[in-house]
Amino acid sequence: MPNPDLTPLLRDRCSPRVFDPAHRLAEPDLRLLLEAARWAPSAGNSQPWAFLVGVRGDRTHREICQHLSRGNSGWVPRASAVLISVCRIASDPDDDAPAFSDYAQYDVGQAVANLTVQASALGLSVHQFAGFDHDAVTAAFGVPAHWKVTTGVAIGRVGDPTTTDIPERKPSDRKPLSEFVYAGQWGAAYDA
Ligand SMILES: Cc1cc2nc3c(=O)[nH]c(=O)nc-3n(C[C@H](O)[C@H](O)[C@H](O)COP(=O)(O)O)c2cc1C
Repeated sequence: MPNPDLTPLLRDRCSPRVFDPAHRLAEPDLRLLLEAARWAPSAGNSQPWAFLVGVRGDRTHREICQHLSRGNSGWVPRASAVLISVCRIASDPDDDAPAFSDYAQYDVGQAVANLTVQASALGLSVHQFAGFDHDAVTAAFGVPAHWKVTTGVAIGRVGDPTTTDIPERKPSDRKPLSEFVYAGQWGAAYDA
C-alpha cells in the first residue's frame, strides 16, 4: 500500500485496463496534458520528445490500434486518446535543434510522468504500454531515423469492469525503500 501521506495524485494513480469507451476527452484537457509534458525538465532543456496523438475515432487512433500486441489489443482501443511517445536518438544534421543528449530517454519518461500526474488532476487515468509493433508504427507515421518510437500512452476515464470481459489488473505493489534506497555503500539500506 502506498504511504497515505502521498499526494492523492500519485497515491490513487494506477494503470487501468478498463477504459470507458463512451468517454470523450475534451480538446482543452488533451492540450493541457500535452502542456504538462511540454514543461517537463530535460537535460540542457533539450526537450527530446515528440508525441503522435490519436483521439478515439480519428485516423491516428485507428492506425495505432492496428499495431498493438495481442495482450494490449483488447483494452487500448477503448481509451479516449492514445499517444505514441517518440524520443530523439540522434542529432538531425539538417536543423538547429539541440544535439542529441545521452539523457533523452530519461527525459521522455519525465515528460510522460508529468502528463500522467496532470491526468490524475483531471480525474483521468493513463496506462502506458510497450506492447506494440514499433517498426510498423514508425513506418506508418513516417518517423525519421533520428527519432525512436518509444511507448504507447492510453488515456481515458475508468470504465465499469462489469460491462466487459477485459480482466482488470490487480492493484500493483512496490519493493520496499530498503531494497533500492542506499547510503554509505551500494546495497546498504538508507536508514533515516
Ligand atoms: C515503459 C512501460 C511499458 C509498459 N508496457 C505495458 C504493456 O505493454 N501492457 C500493459 O498492460 N501494461 C504495460 N505497462 C504498465 C505497467 O505494467 C504498470 O505501470 C506496472 O505494472 C505498475 O502498475 P501501476 O501503473 O498500476 O502502478 C507498461 C508501463 C511502462 C512504464
